[in-house]
Amino acid sequence: MDNNSKENTKVPNLDKSAEIIEGHSEYEADGREVIFDLRNVSYNYPTGPIKEGKPNLVLENINMKIFKGERVVILGPNGGGKTTLLKILDGLIRIKQGQISAFEFDLSKDINNKKKMFKFRRKVGFVFQNPDEELFSSTVYEDIIFGPLYLGLDEDEIKARAEEVIEHRALKK
Ligand SMILES: Nc1ncnc2c1ncn2[C@@H]1O[C@H](COP(=O)(O)OP(=O)(O)OP(=O)(O)O)[C@@H](O)[C@H]1O
Ligand SMILES: [Mg+2]
Repeated sequence: MDNNSKENTKVPNLDKSAEIIEGHSEYEADGREVIFDLRNVSYNYPTGPIKEGKPNLVLENINMKIFKGERVVILGPNGGGKTTLLKILDGLIRIKQGQISAFEFDLSKDINNKKKMFKFRRKVGFVFQNPDEELFSSTVYEDIIFGPLYLGLDEDEIKARAEEVIEHRALKK
């Protein structure tokens, strides 16, 4: 690891006013807390396939709820739309058809609201299929602090977490 980069890393002054937005949760009659709720979600990539003059949908009329504490497995063939669905759940892809709520956020609308999405991203993370897509900084240290940095944590906390990871993963030279 490049030790010099640690001293040189600048922590940007992030707007933490998202903290003040209060949300509410939805519950089923049986008491289960709804975390994700998709209603009639359809999706096609802008550059996606066309079939008989119409977009050949990657996802068509998806209705599903995911409850707090559940572990959900999404099964399907290659190219079936699993990653696309996960990116929609994570707010990485904006849908144009249907509605999606996640925690207290209405992702169908809030995806354009920077403050709300900042708060949403502190709750929901995404691990990419290809690990290479997660490593893009010029030093190991910058890669380690990328997540905590953009969660808006204090500089001391970021450094403490980075040290912990470095120690735990035996990344020290
Ligand atoms: N960025 C993109 N632009 C256009 N089409 C895309 C894009 N990403 C995926 N697709 C297409 O959308 C469809 C669904 O892809 P997706 O990656 O969601 O499937 P998957 O179920 O995750 O597949 P795999 O099992 O291979 O991981 C495929 O036909 C794919 O070619
Ligand atoms: Mg996939």
